[in-house]
Amino acid sequence: MYKTIGILTGGGDAPGLNAVIRAVVKTATGQFGMRVIGVEDGFEGLLGETRTRQLSQADVRGLLPRGGTILGTRNRGRFVEHTAGGLAATSKEVYDEAVNNLSRLNLDALVVLGGEGTLTIAAEFDRIGVPVVGVPKTIDNDLACTELTFGFVTALDIATEALDRLHTTAESHDRVMILEVMGRNAGWIALHSGIAGGADVILIPELPFSMESVAHKVRARDQGGSNFSIIVAAEGAVEAGHEQIFQDSGDKERAPRLGGIAQYCRTQLEAVTGKETRCVVLGHLQRGGRPNAFDRMLATTYGAHSVRALAEGKCGTMVALQAGDVITVPISEAVANVKTVPPDGQMIRTARDTGISFGALDEGKYQISL
Ligand code: F6P
Repeated sequence: MYKTIGILTGGGDAPGLNAVIRAVVKTATGQFGMRVIGVEDGFEGLLGETRTRQLSQADVRGLLPRGGTILGTRNRGRFVEHTAGGLAATSKEVYDEAVNNLSRLNLDALVVLGGEGTLTIAAEFDRIGVPVVGVPKTIDNDLACTELTFGFVTALDIATEALDRLHTTAESHDRVMILEVMGRNAGWIALHSGIAGGADVILIPELPFSMESVAHKVRARDQGGSNFSIIVAAEGAVEAGHEQIFQDSGDKERAPRLGGIAQYCRTQLEAVTGKETRCVVLGHLQRGGRPNAFDRMLATTYGAHSVRALAEGKCGTMVALQAGDVITVPISEAVANVKTVPPDGQMIRTARDTGISFGALDEGKYQISL
């Protein structure tokens, strides 16, 4: 049985991180008599002048509804080198330094809360012999082997509310409103919020769109007496025959970030349809603030289960939701592929059945009437 476990949060924040930290501390100290040490700023807190602090039950009081992470977070940091050609494997010395520090701090095992980037680092720690359990975090819901990552459903609520609000202003002004949501190369947030928020068009990376097909849907709605349209675009959505659109981060050291598809569609669509069009980028509002009830519950279950997994010696695993049960899966499998929207999946079919367009090249095939 491990005496002292470390916990850290890596990558972009997501609603529910603090709820997981709370559940880990309560379960580890209350059920298993372990000590919990919080590592600050992701894996970076294990390098150089290490940044750690002990977490007691008193330290996690009131954390359940709190957004962000009390431990701080970092993107891959020094564990991944940014080169002119993209990302490269980190030198062995960085891992060696972290492993030495883990033993100096008497940390027997780690609970790592993160998305694909952070859990890829966790998988490497597992490979070199550090006992690790991962907890799947990301608003993007793009981790394989789990049906849900915590944070996703809260982000969905926020995007859906934004779509509700855009409806009334779009209708009042007879406009097209485009909402850009996050998700990297996966369209989960756009797809689910588009269905929940009654969008007319959903643009996702998995189904390259044609501007003419989107314009066709907008015109058809006008002809049918609905003089406004709502479009939700995933930041990674791509027009057929074009490249994805990235923001200028202004920092050559940082990986480029997706963004700008809504503004691009606004200009193009206005030119093609002649219809007044506005766009909104929802951005980090999707990540900040309180987790909803579902994410608090999921985060708490994941947190408690991750400690149980460590206690049972199930190292190198990630807790995951499958068919309503929280189980463990190998971390290496969870990070092997990004989970994207299956183009022939049930949600896409549901959207099409209810008249939502994906602006797809072969859209006519799916719609009897627009
Ligand atoms: O992975 C989570 C996420 O919010 C993505 O949806 C988005 O592309 C990215 O992080 C934004 O990263 P940053 O916070 O570095 O701008």
